[in-house]
Amino acid sequence: MNSLEIRTPDDFHVHLRQGPAMAAYAARTARHFGRFLAMPNVVPPLTGPAALADYRRAVAAAVAASGYASTPLACFKLVPGMGREAVLACAAAGAVAGKYYPAGSTTNASDGVPEPAAVADELAAMQDAGLVLSIHGEDPAAPALDRERAFLGVVDGIVGSYPRLRVALEHLSCAESVRAVLAWPERVGATITAHHLSYTIDDLLGGGLRPELFCKPVLKSAADRAALLEAAVSGSPRFFFGSDSAPHPPEAKAAGAAGCYTAPVALSLLAAAFEEAGALDRLETFVSVSGARFYGLGLNPGVLRLSREGWTVPAAVDGAVTPAAGRTLAWTAERI
Ligand code: NCD
Ligand code: ZN
Repeated sequence: MNSLEIRTPDDFHVHLRQGPAMAAYAARTARHFGRFLAMPNVVPPLTGPAALADYRRAVAAAVAASGYASTPLACFKLVPGMGREAVLACAAAGAVAGKYYPAGSTTNASDGVPEPAAVADELAAMQDAGLVLSIHGEDPAAPALDRERAFLGVVDGIVGSYPRLRVALEHLSCAESVRAVLAWPERVGATITAHHLSYTIDDLLGGGLRPELFCKPVLKSAADRAALLEAAVSGSPRFFFGSDSAPHPPEAKAAGAAGCYTAPVALSLLAAAFEEAGALDRLETFVSVSGARFYGLGLNPGVLRLSREGWTVPAAVDGAVTPAAGRTLAWTAERI
């Protein structure tokens, strides 16, 4: 197959940052994706309706200026003490999700949640409002490669305690998580990134260190990658695309910041991974259908064409280094 047309996809997990760089990151995502869920770990964080609405307006203005048709979806950051009313106000301001960062788990998460009991009222309010609880599932106290597995029990407790709450476990990185998601009720879904479907820890540090592949959760083994790929191509409505595209300026990456800027290459990587699995015909379900259904949204209009046209990824895109920088990718993506 030399070209493939799919319905315009969605990205249900992306970091667009703030300040002067945000417009370029927003335009980059809008280029390929009809909708995107913008993560709230900016500074100060998006924890109330006014900040959330301001941020969404700024992102929407950047998208409009880019000329691409794309809609930002809003996600607030769950912090202890926020309160039920603030959660309901965020829902009224258009939020579709609230993000649970275990305290200290990742970029700008020192003010996150120490334990679910610290946000019990807020989780109950999210359940009542029909919001999706988006979870960064890592226990920062566990060894780096075990953090996701170590947090599955906490997720299990939340799923059991809030029987109507919809939960999206973000950026799955290991086989145990795939099994856990499938064992939970259907109101629990999960995003999988293009980098976790494409790379392993050996790509990150088995040869020369490749900081552009360093993210949280850290890339895992080939067996983990195989389990993620199997889940992504399975057609199960539980698994859908969230890029976790997370750009950092070169000086921050040099200082060890976690995050992969995948927005420019995500669809090329996904097409290659699905092709490797002999499942290009399932790509549309994963990137354009399952996530929309999970979030209760209609499907996007429009078409994205993937063509087998090799392109060499520039050393930097929008001032950030992407995975595959300097390498040639087999598939090119373009909305038509
Ligand atoms: C993300 C970031 O930089 O904001 N980093 C990452 O490694 N994925 C935060 C996150 O989603 O963990
Ligand atoms: Zn993220």
